[in-house]
Amino acid sequence: MSERKMSHLDYTRKVLKEFKNPSNIGEIKNPDGYGRVGNPTCGDIMEVFLKVKNNKIVDIKAKTFGCVAAIATTSILTKLVKGKTIDKAMKITKDDIVKTLGDLPPIKYHCSILGIEALHKAIEDYKKKNR
Ligand code: FES
Repeated sequence: MSERKMSHLDYTRKVLKEFKNPSNIGEIKNPDGYGRVGNPTCGDIMEVFLKVKNNKIVDIKAKTFGCVAAIATTSILTKLVKGKTIDKAMKITKDDIVKTLGDLPPIKYHCSILGIEALHKAIEDYKKKNR
C-alpha cells in the first residue's frame, strides 16, 4: 500500500489563510458561557468563551491548541457565530464550516467538530447560569 505524504497542498487557500491569521483568538474575562473540549484521539484542546446579550452572541473568543484544521475551522466558526442568536448558533454544522472553507481533507473533518462541541458546551454553560 502506498503512503501519501500529508502536505500543505491538501488544504485550500482559505484554510491556510485562516490558519495563518485566525480571528477571535484569546479569551473573554468573566464570560457568560465557557466550554472546553479535548479530542481523545489527537490530544488537541479547544476552549470557547461567549458574551451574550438578549439571547444574541455579541462576542466570542477561542483558544485552540491544535492542528492547522482545528485552528482554521475554529476561526471560521467564531466568525459564523458572532452576532447570531443562541438558537441559530446551535444549528451551525461541520458542513457549514467545511463549505465556508472551500473544503478540508476528509481525515481532518473531525477537527471541525471540536470547535462546534466547545461552542455547544459554552452555550450549555450560559443556559445553566441563566436558568
Ligand atoms: Fe487534532 Fe485536528 S488533529 S484537532
